[in-house]
Amino acid sequence: MSARIKRADDSGADEWLFAGIGEEIYSKGYSIQHNAVPVDLCESLFMHLQQMDDEQFVNAGIGRQRDYSVNGFVRRDEICWINGNSDCGAAWLDWCQQLQAYLNRKLFLGLFSFESHFAHYAPGAFYKTHYDSFRGESNRRLSLVLYLNPGWLPDDGGELLIYLDEDRNSVRVTPGFGTLVTFLSEQFPHEVLPAKRDRYSIAGWYRVNSSTEDKVDPAS
Ligand code: OGA
Ligand code: MN
Repeated sequence: MSARIKRADDSGADEWLFAGIGEEIYSKGYSIQHNAVPVDLCESLFMHLQQMDDEQFVNAGIGRQRDYSVNGFVRRDEICWINGNSDCGAAWLDWCQQLQAYLNRKLFLGLFSFESHFAHYAPGAFYKTHYDSFRGESNRRLSLVLYLNPGWLPDDGGELLIYLDEDRNSVRVTPGFGTLVTFLSEQFPHEVLPAKRDRYSIAGWYRVNSSTEDKVDPAS
């Protein structure tokens, strides 16, 4: 992929979009934006996904490092970590880094590192209600999901439900192309409903640094 991808520092436009995300996170703890990520970046990520082989995806697991396990009752998606080796992967990580810097500057979130993966939910796949981080148990602070599904229809299913309170009032997000969701990882249980067609996204997490003298965390 040689087409040049617009970088977040090319103009002040992203700063304005970051402000929308920051304000929503500050006031509600989550943000849903339909055009925050540059459309050419979304398009190159989508093209990249289409060129990937099935073998590059592995069954997704639950937990971290030693506690990691694959459990098909909880989640059925397949994932591929983004390492920045492709042009669009690098541009994506760069954009997420700009957002991280903005949120640290304005909201003092102390975000330290970022990890993200492509996710593929085959028809019927789901991810049952979970937290991305339990209070005090992991250093994931802010979760992010970007959807890459052109022409998604209401009947296709696959919505993300973010639970807001104990009465299970929820916000429902359609995984349409270019929609970006961010939420505080410790605050919101959420789930992915089964979809009728292939559902593509990138899920990512900003982490805080919880290293101690004898343990480097995050390890990378
Ligand atoms: C996750 C997750 C939500 C989605 O990967 O942890 O909650 O809508 N994904 O894909
Ligand atoms: Mn999640």
